[in-house]
Amino acid sequence: MQIISSITEMQGAAINLRTQGKLIGLVPTMGALHEGHLQLIDAAREKSDIVIVSLFVNPTQFGPSEDFSKYPRTLEADLKACESRGVDIVFTPKKESIYPADYSTYVSEERMSKGLCGISRPGHFRGVCTVVNILFNITRPDVAVFGRKDAQQVAIIKKMVTDLWLPIQVVVVPTVREADGLALSSRNRYLLDEQRIEARKLYQALREGKRMVDEGTRSVDRVLAEITHILAQSRRIRLIYVALVDRETMAPMRDIMPGKCLLLVAAWVNDVRLIDNIEI
Ligand code: PAJ
Repeated sequence: MQIISSITEMQGAAINLRTQGKLIGLVPTMGALHEGHLQLIDAAREKSDIVIVSLFVNPTQFGPSEDFSKYPRTLEADLKACESRGVDIVFTPKKESIYPADYSTYVSEERMSKGLCGISRPGHFRGVCTVVNILFNITRPDVAVFGRKDAQQVAIIKKMVTDLWLPIQVVVVPTVREADGLALSSRNRYLLDEQRIEARKLYQALREGKRMVDEGTRSVDRVLAEITHILAQSRRIRLIYVALVDRETMAPMRDIMPGKCLLLVAAWVNDVRLIDNIEI
């Protein structure tokens, strides 16, 4: 496994691989890898000859009061995990090389980015789109793999790829969960034991919403009210939003159309911001 931190070296290696006819699969991450990330790597492995994992905590997607400086950084463990999953190249660029002092170009999707997490995290998806573009241009992937856990992010990246004619296939991997349903997240390490117990209520509430629909409820308001009610019972949980949207466009749905909807939730569990979703 090669570890490359120089941008020019990475770009040179990618161009070389492409001229040899190799299919490149990219898994963009911010490190602090867990089994969710590793299943993205497995999916990339299946679809490509060379798997590149980027480890880069992207400053432009964090708001000024967010956790950029305390975001977990676990390089050694990440490298071991990548090695164990057969990654070919780990790309670990420096913040200053991706964003030199005079950096001034941003990529922004302007419709889906506005709702849901875009409301409480202004500028977040602009940072994501920008860095994903930069990573695409450096690593030249044929296939890029993302997790369904960040459903809005995936929808926005797919839209960016379509709108900008990026010649990349976006592959989406289902959310990987703990045995009790909690979606794996790098931020779960911030949770203390009792917060961890509360955190799993997010998925329990989503499951309850899905159960209501499966049993015939077609009122969006009733489903959202039930989830709000369940989560309001926990003193440690502060709901940011719960929404029922179209899976492709992320637009709120007035009528429930099973097979087309996504039920999403974002909440603070004490001071840890968590998101989750379920297909309906
Ligand atoms: P990060 O949070 O490290 O996530 C990297 C990828 O792993 C994303 O595609 C995310 O959806 C996926 N992922 C995280 N938890 C998952 C889980 N439990 N199951 C399945 N997939 C999961 O998302 C980012 O980084 C950044 O925004 C990034 C795209 C790298 C741009 O900086």
